[in-house]
Amino acid sequence: MSTLRPVLSSMLALLGSATLLASMTAQADALEQQRQDLHNNVQVIAHRGASGYAPEHTWYAYDKARAMGADYIELDVHMSADGHLMAIHDTTLERTTDGQGPVKEHSLDELKALDAGSWFNKAHPKYAKATYAGAKMLTLDQIIDRYGQDVRYYIETKSPKDYPELQDALVSKLEAEGLVQSGSVVIQSFSQASLQEVHGLNPNIPLIQLLWYSPSEDGDTLEEWTGVTPSPANISDADFQVIADYADGVGPNYLYEGEPVIDASFIEQAHANDLLVHSYTINDKDQMHQLLDWGADGLFTNFPDRLKAVLAEE
Ligand code: G3P
Ligand code: CA
Repeated sequence: MSTLRPVLSSMLALLGSATLLASMTAQADALEQQRQDLHNNVQVIAHRGASGYAPEHTWYAYDKARAMGADYIELDVHMSADGHLMAIHDTTLERTTDGQGPVKEHSLDELKALDAGSWFNKAHPKYAKATYAGAKMLTLDQIIDRYGQDVRYYIETKSPKDYPELQDALVSKLEAEGLVQSGSVVIQSFSQASLQEVHGLNPNIPLIQLLWYSPSEDGDTLEEWTGVTPSPANISDADFQVIADYADGVGPNYLYEGEPVIDASFIEQAHANDLLVHSYTINDKDQMHQLLDWGADGLFTNFPDRLKAVLAEE
């Protein structure tokens, strides 16, 4: 028996490292698969869920997006006063709930008591449903508990200045759930600092630098909301290379008040700098065809079924 013990323990150690190796290989494969999907297939990104048909950031919008075969469910996250990651777009509660004031000034219990669905029935009578009334705000925890690794999540860090701990809390949660290793998440933000922090925390997470182009005060040119880039007309390879240092792509708006702010050359130049282009928010079929013709790699849409149909026509 005494001679057998060292043999057994080295066999067990071998088994242990073999298992570890196997899981590391599986993780590398999953991440590689995600990157290949991002680079080889046009991604259907369900903007706040299928928010054209159901109240944004509710089970109704997410379940519909999933049923429509979206590649990603897009989530905007803020934090409650007691540190919970909440799925909601606005910094305040008035537009999409019957609550008032900043999200960050409300506890989870207070947020959970709100009606996050009735507003949609008033705003979109064409798609209104009685069941939407009383829909609840959701935490990221709940969303991950429900869908696990069955969906991919495209998570936006909203107003990081209000939540300095947001990046750390988000990355820790996603790692703990194995969603980074399974290639199930993309993180996006208008805040360059937020993305650079996430990149420092875990460089395996694909990142998208969001861009908002609108006319400058004098109206002579376009400017980017946070100054990450100059106007599309003046953007240089060096500007794109700054972004490519931490991100895998850019997410620009396509239109400003109905007028295009990006074009084929913007997408071409981004690609020449190894950056994907995911444009928002595209609900019109002709605009979808236009951006796909220009080589867009993904589109944010409130109507994932419409984009799926357009992709089937392409
Ligand atoms: O996240 C992409 C796009 O959704 C950015 O705009 O305001 O809808 O979050 P917003
Ligand atoms: Ca968003």
